[in-house]
Amino acid sequence: MLKTHFLSREEKAFTKKVWSYYKASGRHDLPWRKTADSYKILVSELMLQQTQVVRVLPKYKEFLRTFPTLRRLADAPLGEVLKAWQGLGYNRRAKFLWLAAQAIQTVYKGRFPKTFSELIRLPGVGHYTAGAVMNFAHNQAYPLIETNIRSVYINHFFHDKSVVSDGELLPIIERTLDRSNPREWNWALMDYGAHLKGTIGNINSKSTTYKKQSTFKGSDRQIRGAILRTLVVGPQTNGTLSKKLENIEKEHLVLQLKVLLNEGLIVKDKKRYQFP
Ligand code: ADE
Repeated sequence: MLKTHFLSREEKAFTKKVWSYYKASGRHDLPWRKTADSYKILVSELMLQQTQVVRVLPKYKEFLRTFPTLRRLADAPLGEVLKAWQGLGYNRRAKFLWLAAQAIQTVYKGRFPKTFSELIRLPGVGHYTAGAVMNFAHNQAYPLIETNIRSVYINHFFHDKSVVSDGELLPIIERTLDRSNPREWNWALMDYGAHLKGTIGNINSKSTTYKKQSTFKGSDRQIRGAILRTLVVGPQTNGTLSKKLENIEKEHLVLQLKVLLNEGLIVKDKKRYQFP
């Protein structure tokens, strides 16, 4: 992966285009780009998965005020973490973040792992997230594949192709990685990808990994979100839940309570549902 190589004319034109966009219009003020702290970067990356930047911005700041260090997060009850997560959705991410913090406390004695192979073994951390920490915290070049970056490569290199797999994208992503400045190169790719989405629309429907985010309204995910929100003020019984969530059908409510119990996002103590 660290072989030196020359870029083709096409690849050079590509990197020039991405850098020019970034220099002129990159999102230079994002708070998670002003830190090299692995903990803060992990928090931001988990929040940014499937959630828009504008929604993450206030939550990220608030979350770090509540849990300024990895240790504070690891020591908190999961319920406090879930409370701080409200508004971001996909609550299992909060649990993974909390489990990762605990794993780092116990396995690594609180010292955040610095290698890709250790990072990827943490709960909830996959290829993308481990690579993101390596690039953004350590400025070490690892190829990243996520939605905006896919758009950039598909748009430039696979314009005429109707289906593109990550396996086809990866070699070009690796070749064009800027090994002298991987941190900013990946920011530039993300920003250019977000710009393409705003101008051309969704390019990623060509990607073999593309999965349209399911509609939130009326979904099971929305029901689970509504249940968790009621628990922020305190424990609830079947009775108080039915009253607060009167628009939700009873069977749906019962089923989603089971899902939340199974995921360990809520607990039931006698007749009361509450945060763990
Ligand atoms: N900067 C660093 N990671 C990012 C992400 N996932 N989305 C947008 N900007 C970022």
